[in-house]
Amino acid sequence: MLVEKNVPLQACNTFHIVARAHTLVRLRSLLDLQALLANPDWALAPKFVLGGGSNIVLTGDVKPMVLKVEIMGRRLVRETARAWVLEAGAGENWHEFIAWSLAQGYPGLENMALIPGTVGASPVQNVGAYGVELQDRFESLDAVDLQTGQLFTLNAAQCGFGYRDSVFKHASKPLGLAGRALITAVRFALPKPWKAVLGYADLEKKRVQTGINNPSAQQIFDWVCDIRRAKLPDPALIGNAGSFFKNPTVSAEQCQDIIGREPKIVHYLLADGSAKLAAGWLIDACGWRGKSVGNAGVYEKQALVLVNRGGATGGEVMTLARSIQTSVYERFGIMLEPEPVVV
Ligand code: EPU
Repeated sequence: MLVEKNVPLQACNTFHIVARAHTLVRLRSLLDLQALLANPDWALAPKFVLGGGSNIVLTGDVKPMVLKVEIMGRRLVRETARAWVLEAGAGENWHEFIAWSLAQGYPGLENMALIPGTVGASPVQNVGAYGVELQDRFESLDAVDLQTGQLFTLNAAQCGFGYRDSVFKHASKPLGLAGRALITAVRFALPKPWKAVLGYADLEKKRVQTGINNPSAQQIFDWVCDIRRAKLPDPALIGNAGSFFKNPTVSAEQCQDIIGREPKIVHYLLADGSAKLAAGWLIDACGWRGKSVGNAGVYEKQALVLVNRGGATGGEVMTLARSIQTSVYERFGIMLEPEPVVV
């Protein structure tokens, strides 16, 4: 365990916002965490868990003790007639873990390639892309209760997954675990036999363009990487936290009303009659694509992504986000909900 003081966090958040952690502890193992929690000086200190920093907006220095999860390791846990069960340490890089799983011959995670962040953060917001969500491939996870030091395991039902949501995003008792749990390892069940998931429009386009009708998992991985590189900014080059808002869900009546007023609105009907609207389209329709407030901007190729144009503060990002919320609300009557955690 490595305890550091007054640590710059710019390299630890994909928005590249300048801020400092008063205290940062690098946790390389479960033992590190248990030692920390057994230390009376640190046990009761307020704590903030940091993974890859790809879903946070830092609005100032972080006073709670920052726990940087660097627990590594990846392995096949077991193989049954129905699935390969893989396990990865929470500190593993998500994209590299998927690339590794394919190289080992365990397909199933390819649609979620190139999502920035760590394996440990993936259940927190139930990451998803191109027709597959984490919950579709999730088996269980191990976590430590930061108040009691106890290690516990949760299955999918206990994680309460929803669209970009889980118990780890909610603080309220009795079920919410935000700020209380630190995920140490995640297990994935990859169904056998493998089946391609190709329904998503951008993947269908690739199928038509390439003439490859039965792509392999590796082929889909490559397509997803191409699609993402074409429309999403690489956080290594342009600071961002992926989609800044969730795609809002509206009732059937609301949807009819909005389509009546805005026939071109991009929407997807859901099984229960409600509809999901493309937040990127709503923001784009309000003229925000390519615009800036101070050093924070709206990405030119995808209006759902806010970017750091250089030296942006968390305050600037949030001012821009609120201005976008206001104009989308005034035009469509819909309040967009931010996806990243504001710290
Ligand atoms: N659109 C516009 N203008 C824009 C942006 C989008 O008109 O500036 C329209 C597009 O034409 C498209 C629709 O909006 O018809 C949807 O856009 P896209 O296919 O890019 O997907 P998205 O709904 O914006 C979601 C996820 C992404 C995920 C992609 C692919 C959310 C909040 N975002 O984006 O996830 O990669 O689908 O599955 O659900 C993330 O969560 O950080 C993320 C990047």
